[in-house]
Amino acid sequence: MKFFGSMEAKNDELHIGGVGVERLREEFGTPLYVIDEGYFKSNAQIFLDNFKSDIFETRVIYASKAFTNLYMSNLVSELGLYTDVVSGGELYTALKGGAEPQKIYYHGNNKLYEELEMAIESGVGTIVVDNENEYELISEIAKNDKVKVSVLLRVNPGIEAKTHKYIQTAKDDSKFGMSIFNEKTKKLIEEMQRDEFIDLKGIHCHIGSQVFDEQFFFASANAMIEFAYEVNESFNLNIREINLGGGFGVYYTEKDNPFELSEFLKKYITIIEEKLKSLQFNVESISIEPGRSLINNAGSTIYTIGSVKETITGLQYIFIDGGMTDNPRHALYQAEYEAGIANKINAKKTQEYTVAGKLCETGDILIENVMLPKAETGDILIIPSTGAYTYSMSSNYNRMQRPGVVFVENGECRLAVKAETYDDLIRNDVART
Ligand code: LLP
Repeated sequence: MKFFGSMEAKNDELHIGGVGVERLREEFGTPLYVIDEGYFKSNAQIFLDNFKSDIFETRVIYASKAFTNLYMSNLVSELGLYTDVVSGGELYTALKGGAEPQKIYYHGNNKLYEELEMAIESGVGTIVVDNENEYELISEIAKNDKVKVSVLLRVNPGIEAKTHKYIQTAKDDSKFGMSIFNEKTKKLIEEMQRDEFIDLKGIHCHIGSQVFDEQFFFASANAMIEFAYEVNESFNLNIREINLGGGFGVYYTEKDNPFELSEFLKKYITIIEEKLKSLQFNVESISIEPGRSLINNAGSTIYTIGSVKETITGLQYIFIDGGMTDNPRHALYQAEYEAGIANKINAKKTQEYTVAGKLCETGDILIENVMLPKAETGDILIIPSTGAYTYSMSSNYNRMQRPGVVFVENGECRLAVKAETYDDLIRNDVART
């Protein structure tokens, strides 16, 4: 198991942010999401320090769908990051968490009228338009409220990034955005340009998630700049912001080979600057939207091991007190993870195990085939690199209570989300009698 951030072994016990796993379990119970706050902050700083240019403003927008709650929103705003939201719920969380409305980007392929009203009335800085109907809704609300709404148009530059097909997003038949090769896209741009209640600031794309080949990002940046230049020329437009989305791949297991972020970001800026210079094209700002690459490796989940079971075929199962309800990524995407026995972190790995959850579902597997020290009931299993898309995709299947979230730094623990109780589970239920 690869250690990230502040993880260290003290005697045989794993510590994160200076806090031992035994203490975490004792104070907060398991399952528990543990976030290494210092590591998250240093990741954010890598983006802020390296995605910088002398010729245009840069914006680092945190994709809050990866992991969000009030505490996280507070932290994101404190660090000076912008926030990307994709629903009324994420927007509400960002606003309540202290995000400046001006620093929010509102995405999504089917924003509801009420959600758009809420965004416009709370002064959200940028709405990313997905399609014609959405533009019409925004225009109607803007006209009623007598405000001018700043928008970007989500386009597909036709770059097919190599990743799991469920997280590819910019193919020609994608449900997101509109192809740059589609005549309808140019028509919509012209229409928005004429609308006095709409300020079409720019264009956005997101080519997919967990992408490892940097060439895809460079190719899409070039395609986006060319497209913006072309529409500016042909429609006498003023496209001045290009938002290139997120998707930077991260380490889960040895099979993943992420690029070094600071080097990549510097190269990314150089490529963008060169393209703009070659066209003599001035833009005001270029933004990116990392989610996973900011939070994933700062998060881990700890569980208590219950039964250890051997099947007739000799397969050794470790059963944990959580499962696909707190991390559905293996079930959904065949995602792979590493693991460790956190209270025996230095012990020799002698046995291959399959880690399964406690849900009534055969697919409730978190890891197939992981080498671990001999596991015993009561041991603490840690699955690292679960910061992104686990808590945010968790469910209450089998009426499981969602685990709590704790941030750790310099020997201190801060509870960010309380674990759900049984009462939380029936809070919205209405009894028949
Ligand atoms: N911007 C837009 C418009 C997006 O759609 C996404 C992710 C991001 C930024 C952030 O991408 P990231 O840097 O985190 O890769 N649930 C899936 C991932 C879905 C990603 C959806 N969009 C998973 O667990 O792998």
